[in-house]
Amino acid sequence: MASNQFLTLNSGHKMPIIGLGTWNASDQEVEASIDAALEVGYRHIDTAPVYRNEKAIGRVLKRWLDAGKVKREELFIVTKLPTFANRASDVEATIKKSLADLQLDYVDIYLIHSPVSSVANADGSLKLDADGLMVPDLEADITTTWTAMEKLVPSGLAKSVGVSNFDQEQLERVLKVAKIPPATNQIEHHVYLQQRDLVNFCKAKGIVVTAYSPLGSNGRNKVYASAGINRELPNLFDIPEVKEIAAAHGKTPAQVLLRWIVDNGIVIIPKSLNRERLKQNLNVFDFKLTTEEVAKLSALDQNFRICDWCLLPGAQRHPEYKF
Ligand code: A2P
Repeated sequence: MASNQFLTLNSGHKMPIIGLGTWNASDQEVEASIDAALEVGYRHIDTAPVYRNEKAIGRVLKRWLDAGKVKREELFIVTKLPTFANRASDVEATIKKSLADLQLDYVDIYLIHSPVSSVANADGSLKLDADGLMVPDLEADITTTWTAMEKLVPSGLAKSVGVSNFDQEQLERVLKVAKIPPATNQIEHHVYLQQRDLVNFCKAKGIVVTAYSPLGSNGRNKVYASAGINRELPNLFDIPEVKEIAAAHGKTPAQVLLRWIVDNGIVIIPKSLNRERLKQNLNVFDFKLTTEEVAKLSALDQNFRICDWCLLPGAQRHPEYKF
């Protein structure tokens, strides 16, 4: 089985509608899961420097490419410009560092990870103040960063460029200056956080929406707890309507949650470290949700944001932080 369903981006490039999310995994876990994911048919992999796994991903990709088991043009690799490099002057050097770590000549799409910018230490890492808070960079501007992002396309470092965590107003500002419009806006999107107005705005502007945490980032409460943050988070797999629809089709709640998103023309990047669940998440096209089921799932919206960047204390002080 291969992830052979694509959406065409406004850049003309095709993006596999199912990709693999890789946040919060050790090098060892990531290497094993990328290997398993490529074996079961994933060709789209989403990463970012802040996930600290680009080198591990690069090692697996190199093995697969060198062995001729996959061709570079069959892969769709996404990485991102981190908040601490979120300024025009840092764009080119930062993508080159990601490319070196990924052992690639280009990425398929490079995203501004967040509209929030933060000050960096001399070594380029995230600067924290005496209270351990991110130091906002109030000089950086998303429109000038975007102009630098656009240059990556003719220079061949990125096939397409896009953004992540942008709201409508931020996208409008970028679109006003853009010679190349963002190809995607990667946002948190699942039944409990549907962001319908933002999704519709993106669609109207020809910007493909990519849904991160499409399964509700199950287990994230443990990550928050280990950082001393106690947040009650919902488990989307336990929602009665989701369970009922899954049972009716002989599928899992995860497959129902994912199918509902892709049916709306949205790219998904579910994460799993488990081979069976990797396969499951790719295998969502052999059943069809009824109109009533789609309506039931669409009615579940609670405007509940799971990934609010509480792991990056201080981000909330930045004027571009809009969660
Ligand atoms: P695991 O890696 O053990 O499979 P999201 O993509 O929304 O961030 O969710 C990822 C979380 O959901 C991970 O904890 C992952 O755990 C779990 N997960 C991924 N796919 C499935 C699935 N098909 N069924 C149940 N849990 C899943």
